[in-house]
Amino acid sequence: MEIPNQLLEKLSWVAIKTDNSVVITDNKGHIEWVNEGFTKLTEYSLEEVKGKKPGELLQGPDTDPKHKKLIHQKLAKKEPIEQEILNYSKSGTAYWIHLSIVPVHDEKRKVTNFVSIQSDISDKKNRRLELERLLAEKEELAKQLMMSELKFKSAFKQEKNINDTLKRTINKLESTQGQLVKQEKLATIGTLTASIAHEMNNPVNFVYNGISSLDDLLNDLEGYFAGLGKVLDASKDPSTKEQAQQIGDHYEVGEILEDLRSISSEVADGAKRIVEIAKGLRVFSRTDEEQILSTNINDLLESVIILLKGNFKYTIELTKDFDTNLPSIDCYPGQLNQVFMNLISNAIQAIPKERTDGHITIKTREFGPDVIIEIHDNGSGIPSSIQNKIFKPFFTTKEVGVGTGLGMGISKDIIEKHGGSMRFDSKEGKGTIFYIQIPKNIDTRSQSA
Ligand SMILES: Nc1ncnc2c1ncn2[C@@H]1O[C@H](COP(=O)(O)OP(=O)(O)OP(=O)(O)O)[C@@H](O)[C@H]1O
Ligand SMILES: [Mg+2]
Repeated sequence: MEIPNQLLEKLSWVAIKTDNSVVITDNKGHIEWVNEGFTKLTEYSLEEVKGKKPGELLQGPDTDPKHKKLIHQKLAKKEPIEQEILNYSKSGTAYWIHLSIVPVHDEKRKVTNFVSIQSDISDKKNRRLELERLLAEKEELAKQLMMSELKFKSAFKQEKNINDTLKRTINKLESTQGQLVKQEKLATIGTLTASIAHEMNNPVNFVYNGISSLDDLLNDLEGYFAGLGKVLDASKDPSTKEQAQQIGDHYEVGEILEDLRSISSEVADGAKRIVEIAKGLRVFSRTDEEQILSTNINDLLESVIILLKGNFKYTIELTKDFDTNLPSIDCYPGQLNQVFMNLISNAIQAIPKERTDGHITIKTREFGPDVIIEIHDNGSGIPSSIQNKIFKPFFTTKEVGVGTGLGMGISKDIIEKHGGSMRFDSKEGKGTIFYIQIPKNIDTRSQSA
């Protein structure tokens, strides 16, 4: 907007009445006239300011240079101006004004003056500044809140990590405790079994030796009856022969001799088996298990099979596919016995009692610097959903009282203690194969026992 200068005089009359501050300058910006509103606001009288530039008079140390520059540029181009700016009164009080400057032109459209109206907006401006300050404060608080939240989250995460570690440690402790208890029990059972096996040896030998003497005596008895028969056959008196025949029939001497033969052979079989079991027990429960000994793995497997025979002899067929040239290896025999006992027991337990086609195959072979032992069963198999759990302590699918769920964990520990490894292949409904690989020469540096 521009004002034609014929209106300027009329405008001045209006300006006298208004409370706003009004300044009229020439086209170079020098003050020609100010109203009372100006004097009230700036504390300068018309006489004091006439001929001066308002900017030089009114702008002070905190006036924004950007605002000054804007006003200068627009004045130079003779364009209208709308601007908020910080001014100072004569006594130095700062106040905010809304400045509106309009160029005044003559009939040839040449700018002759500027009319500038300033309204005091200090209150509004201060309120706005306060609002901005409050907003900035609010933002700062929000930022702090966010930081605290982040810190809290990280502290929470840290605590969760500590909790997890603690839980893992407790689990490990529980499992170690369980293993210790089981190992302790096995060690006690081992010692007990060893002494029972030892004590059994003598009486069983009496029985075994007694049976062969019994056989000799039976032979003599048979010889006696045969001789007697011959004597009676040769006798002239048929009634003596008949009487002897009747007594023989009455006491069923023939059957007695037959029965004695068969009982003696059954007792001999039983005694032989007891001797085998006692031998198996002695090998199995070697109390020297904390010592590394040169051991034939086939013998260890044999002793475990003898001890477990009662569990499967009627229902499960067992094939021993042993490498007869398998070299002896350095190992803790008592501990390997535990491993084989557990794996073969698991295989037996995996075959349901009602099955008639149960089959377990145990293989041994040499493989470079290692020996390999395989235990195959055609039992229930291990469902893939639990295959990663079976080595975990206390994991069992067996009924309460049947399994503790420690066997696999202990076995894996023992094999690893030998510097070996254990793995398995299993298909649900088809069966399982366990592979154990043990170095022939145990690396004593990896031993903790
Ligand atoms: N040959 C196998 N066939 C099928 N499942 C098996 C076989 N071997 C192990 N498992 C599974 O792994 C689980 C854990 O075996 P582990 O020997 O550790 O414990 P357990 O036999 O249940 O109890 P414990 O050995 O303490 O008497 C078993 O409960 C069973 O589910
Ligand atoms: Mg087991």
